[in-house]
Formats: sequence, structure tokens, C-alpha cells
Amino acid sequence: MCGIVGYVGSSNSLGVLLGGLRRLEYRGYDSAGIAIIDPAGALHTRKRAGKLQILIDDLETTPIASGLTGIGHTRWATHGGPNDENAHPHLGDDGKLALIHNGIIENFAELKRELLESHPDTVFTSETDTEVAAILVGLEYRRTGDLAEAFRHVVARLHGAFTLLALHKDEPGVVVGARRNSPLVIGLGNGENFLGSDVAAFVEHTRRAMEIGQDQIVTIRADSVTVTDFDGVPAHGKEYEVLWDASAAEKGGWSSFMAKEISEEPDAIAKTLLGRVVDGAVHLEELEPLADALAEIDRIVILGCGTAAYSGMLAKYAIEKWTRIPVDVELSHEFRYRDPILNARTLVLSVSQSGETMDTLMAVKYAVANGARTLSICNTQGATIPRESDAVIYTHAGPEVAVASTKAFVAQVAAFYLFGLHLAATRGTLSASEITGLLDELQALPAQLEEVLEQHDAIKQLAGWMTDTRAVLFLGRHAGYPVALEGALKLKELAYIHAEGFAAGELKHGPIALIEAGQPVFVVVPSPRGENSLHPKVISNIQEIRARGARILAIAEKGDASVLPYADVVIPIPLASTLFEPLLAVAPLQIFAMELAAAKGLDVDQPRNLAKSVTVE
Ligand code: M6R
Repeated sequence: MCGIVGYVGSSNSLGVLLGGLRRLEYRGYDSAGIAIIDPAGALHTRKRAGKLQILIDDLETTPIASGLTGIGHTRWATHGGPNDENAHPHLGDDGKLALIHNGIIENFAELKRELLESHPDTVFTSETDTEVAAILVGLEYRRTGDLAEAFRHVVARLHGAFTLLALHKDEPGVVVGARRNSPLVIGLGNGENFLGSDVAAFVEHTRRAMEIGQDQIVTIRADSVTVTDFDGVPAHGKEYEVLWDASAAEKGGWSSFMAKEISEEPDAIAKTLLGRVVDGAVHLEELEPLADALAEIDRIVILGCGTAAYSGMLAKYAIEKWTRIPVDVELSHEFRYRDPILNARTLVLSVSQSGETMDTLMAVKYAVANGARTLSICNTQGATIPRESDAVIYTHAGPEVAVASTKAFVAQVAAFYLFGLHLAATRGTLSASEITGLLDELQALPAQLEEVLEQHDAIKQLAGWMTDTRAVLFLGRHAGYPVALEGALKLKELAYIHAEGFAAGELKHGPIALIEAGQPVFVVVPSPRGENSLHPKVISNIQEIRARGARILAIAEKGDASVLPYADVVIPIPLASTLFEPLLAVAPLQIFAMELAAAKGLDVDQPRNLAKSVTVE
């Protein structure tokens, strides 16, 4: 949840740290802080509650000494409220060491008690678990005189998930980091090296990155990088080139990252399909390590959280229809606590934009430990979840910075559909021509989605009229149901308006009691075309709620005249078959939530209480 950056090199570290924090701010924005060692070996820190800009303004008013070694942090509060005292960095008890942390040290209370027993004079200035680690590393440094060794002694005693970075005034030119179940990557430069929660921290300076494995410690200097495990045994991470450049994570001329990212949805789908559809067939070389297992599986369990889980719900409809393999979709945080039935014939298919969501990571580890095969769908190169899985299908949506997930969702669904069609081809459950037809529909989506996005201004106007709305309901059936859930999630997280998504058929079993005069209800109307269309049923549902005073905002296929008499507003979408329609119906709901939040004067990219990457359980 927090963003972490470290630097050693020949540039003024302040600029590097603030640039890195700006790109990592999506990970948490309750407070921010930095620590720098100046050329004379003095340690300087500054930290402020609130968004990064408050720290930047403070540093402009009262500049800090410059130095070539530094660490920076942007926080999403866990232990202790978002104030100056709890902001990172935290210092060792002699003030010579500064340490920053992402994650939760579960046994911090016990460690604190032990510390107070052995060092009764210890003064804690914050309520954080992090300060306990800072004091412990500081004490170990006094004993060992070596920062990496001090880390080794302390991390062995920590329970939970953590990334820690520290520097010490007696070891200028060195930053040490450690990670367990929490992200950290190395940026390799010329005469300078970087550490970051993700590559965004340093992509402005270098696109050469190196992975750090679980339970490893890294030491960076200007001209060297050393990695060991927690016992000090040397290790070497995999080096890779970051596929996107710094401009991909810039806002450009857009009003928000979210607006920019919605506009990139057609591209996110196109890039995810690129090179994977050849001559009307699916090519997913990345599935090679799972080829034998995929021939044997008799069940698929999809795991994800939030928007990612909703993409998984859509995938269930498609994969079951195309392969006849039963698919369950579960929220990652529920999965491992209920003793799920797993074996080598179960494929656990996780989906995560960040690839770092702790709930999903733990669920994947549980699946591995209990004998299942694992595949992940992920948008972030080198992230932890794909590294823990047997294979990965990367989505190529590019960096998603806004907290609300948008382009990642459509790219995830595209990746799921490719996987489903691959499986259908290998299992022979669809003919080659059926697969080609479905791939044609998939490939038509980017252009169709461009058409949907042209309605941005009309949707913005609708949102502008609804700023006083207190509650909005979203209805859908079959593949429209996950879209309804996603529309409600977006409105909640961005506009802080109570919103619920329902399967339209469920209304009469209770939720219809919520309908009163003027209640706005978005309805995802399925196409009237095609056999077994649920269109008539949804029209009946609309009539039922309209009769009770609901205001109907319909998302319906272009030219569907049957919806006009009952809808107050119709947002038309291009013609697509049942499983592809959701990819066109979701964008209007994303735009609506974003514009309603903007009209209320809210921060669209950084909604309250949230963080982009949820790396705590
Ligand atoms: O990085 P992930 O895809 O694993 O994140 C999962 C959820 O935390 C995420 O989709 C969240 O629900 C978004 N804020 C929704 O917009």
C-alpha cells in the first residue's frame, strides 16, 4: 500500500526521490517523507501528513541539505493515524539510522515489549509498527557496524509482510532493503542504482530492472548491487527491461489519470491481443509450462479482489460456455480460510492488475502449497503473484495509475477470453471456425469501444445533473451482472455515493423494496438479438421498477427501440454478442462515476481511504 523509493548515485537524491514518490503516490497518500545523507555524512529527514504536495511545498519553503543517498516514502496508514509523527521515515534510537516500511509487522507489539524490557529507556515517538523495526535495526547496527548484517538479524524476528529500506549516516553511499511478501524491485543505472516498490519509482532514469526474490536482502551502492537471502547466502535476481517508458505513466493533457486511462481502453485490449491471435487461432506461448496440466484439469477456480474479481465473473460465463469446464469465482481473501478442495486437476487462475494484492498473493501461495496448478493474469511485469504462479498471461494495458481500475478491467477480460478460447481449441470443445468467429468479435472491440467513448460529453452532462443523488442502483443479468457490480463499485469508490449492483432477477426477492419515486437505476440491457436472449426478462424488470417510480438509465444496444418507452435516458452501445457486450457497457459507467466525482469536486485519481495496490491483508 505504501510507496517506497531508494537512491544512491551522483545526482542530487532529492529530485530522484520526489520524482519517484510522485509516480508512486497512487500506492498511498496519507503522508510522505524522505531521508537524505549529505556529503559530510549528516542525516536529514523531513516528513509531513497529507499528500506529497504538502511535503514538496514544505521543502520549497525550508530546503533540506542535498546528498547523493536517500530514501522516500508515501504512506497508506495501518498502525497509527495519518499525522506527522506516524509518517515515515522512522529513526533508530540514536538518530543515526532512517527506515521506511511497506506492509504490516504482525508481532510488533511483542517486539516492542521485549525492546522495552531490554532497553527501558527507549522512547517511541509514533504509534507505528515501523518504528519498532527502525529501533531494532539501529541497535543491531551498533553491535555489528554493518547495515546489511543488522537487517539480517532483525528480519529473522519479524512476522508478517514487509518491505524495509534503510540508510545509516555511518555508511553513506549505501541503501539496504529487505522484502517478504511485499514488493521491491531494483533499478540498474550507470553509476547510480535505485530501489522502488515498482518500476514507476525509477523508470524516468532507467528501464533496466532486476527482481528481488522472497526473503531477500539487497544492498545498493552507486556502482554495485548485492543480493543475499535472509541468511546471507548470495542470490541473483532476474534482470529485465521495462516495457513502457516514463511518459506512459504521465497524465499528459488529461484532467486526471483516470480520464486518460479510460481513453486508453481500446488500446489496452488491442495490445493484449497483439501477437496472440494468428490466422484466426490463439497463440499463448506463455502457457507452455502448463501444457500437460491444462490437458488434465477438471475444474478452474478464479481468484481476485474488487474489479479484478468482477472480470473473473465475466470469465466464468465465457470459459464454462466455451470449454464446459466448471469454473468457480472467489474473492481471494475468503478462499484460503474455508479449507477449499484442491488437487493437481484444479487450475487456480488468479487475476490482479498490480500482481501484488496481498489477499490474492496469499491465496495463490495457499493453492500452490495444496497441490493445485496456478496461472495468473497480471498487468505488472515482474510482480510477485506471477512469480509465485506456474505461468502468467500478461495484460498489456500499460501502467494504471488512478486508484480506480478501468483499462486493466477490459484487458483482463480480453486475456481471460484468449485463455478460454485456447482451452476450447486444445480440448476440442469449439470448432476452429467457431473460435475464429469469436476472435473476430474480440478483435472488433477496440474500434467499437472508441465509438462508446465518443459519448463522454453526454455522460458527463448526465453526471452533472446528479450531484445531489444519495443512492444509485445498478442492474444486470448474466454477463450484464458483473458490469452492474463494477458500475456500483466505481460510484462508491469515486463519488462516495451509496451504490448497489444486483442481478436483475434478484430484485423481487428483496431489493425492490428500495425503489421509491425518483430512485436512479442503471440497467445493463442485453442485446435483443440471439437465441435465449434475456432481453425480454430485463425489459420486464425495468417495467417492475418503473411502475414503482424508478428513474431508468439504460445502457442498451444501438437501435433497440423496445427500451425507449421505459427509459428516461438511453446510452447506446454498438452491437455485440452477449459475452462481448459487457466490454462495451462498462465504459459509460466508469465515465459516469468519474464525472460525478469530478462534479462534486472530489479527487478522482486518489479517492479517500484507498490505495491502488493493497499489499496488506
Ligand atoms: O491490483 P489488483 O487488480 O489485484 O487490485 C484488486 C482491487 O484492489 C482493485 O481492483 C480495486 O477494487 C480497485 N480500486 C477498483 O477500482
